[in-house]
Amino acid sequence: MDNIDKFVQLVQESDNIVFFGGAGVSTESGIPDFRSPDGLYNQKYKYPPETIISHSFYQRYPEEFYRFYKDKMLYPDAKPGITHLALAKLEKEGKLKAVITQNIDGLHQKAGSSNVIELHGSVLRNYCERCHKFYGIDKIINSEGVPMCECGGRIKPDVVLYEEGLDSYVLEKAVNYIKNADILIIGGTSLAVYPAAGLIDYYRGNKLVLINKSETSRDAHANLVINDAIGKVFSQLL
Ligand code: APR
Repeated sequence: MDNIDKFVQLVQESDNIVFFGGAGVSTESGIPDFRSPDGLYNQKYKYPPETIISHSFYQRYPEEFYRFYKDKMLYPDAKPGITHLALAKLEKEGKLKAVITQNIDGLHQKAGSSNVIELHGSVLRNYCERCHKFYGIDKIINSEGVPMCECGGRIKPDVVLYEEGLDSYVLEKAVNYIKNADILIIGGTSLAVYPAAGLIDYYRGNKLVLINKSETSRDAHANLVINDAIGKVFSQLL
């Protein structure tokens, strides 16, 4: 039995699965990841992308921030891929308890998942920094330069920028699901960014599955490692 067959059997036998994912889940929806050779961080810009999508850069150069953000971080026409759809199906079957994602694209919810924990926020939510009025992604896309609220305040995406902390309530929810999971499936993430990557240390079971095209620092900790395209692996569950 090959590793993908073992994965399918593990999933079939469990009703307490938690998924922890990253940008590799959305590359098959046409959204580049960050650290692959063709990823966002390996493309050339005036400043390193990690500098641009940081809190201090947003405060000092909002025009430049929004130029990059609108050009490189928004994919409003992206469609859920096989993995998003398979996870939504597992949730409907009562087998998957939560999707914990580092992604900000909202594709898990578009695929039909309802319990999605967004560690880094979402581009679909934007708030005025002064009156906290909510705005959708269209307001950002259709604004020239820095998007402004009717009250005169500046609108900020509900996305965790570098130098910003993660929401403690969101973190706590994620830790609880991981702590109590029978199977933890980690997919499409380089596990390079903390505290997100550190959450997997709370897993206490012996069915840690790691699905990633490239090697990660945690492969040795996994009970099952599948270095393959995540959509191909999850297509076995549809
Ligand atoms: N199938 C399986 N793995 C894939 C696929 C695919 N189709 N496409 C890409 N990958 C793998 C890559 O090999 C890479 O190891 O997904 C991983 C994506 O890693 P990153 O690009 O580092 O993305 P991610 O781990 O989500 O980054 C975490 O970094 O910049 C911050 O906030 C940003 O949430 C992001 C965080």
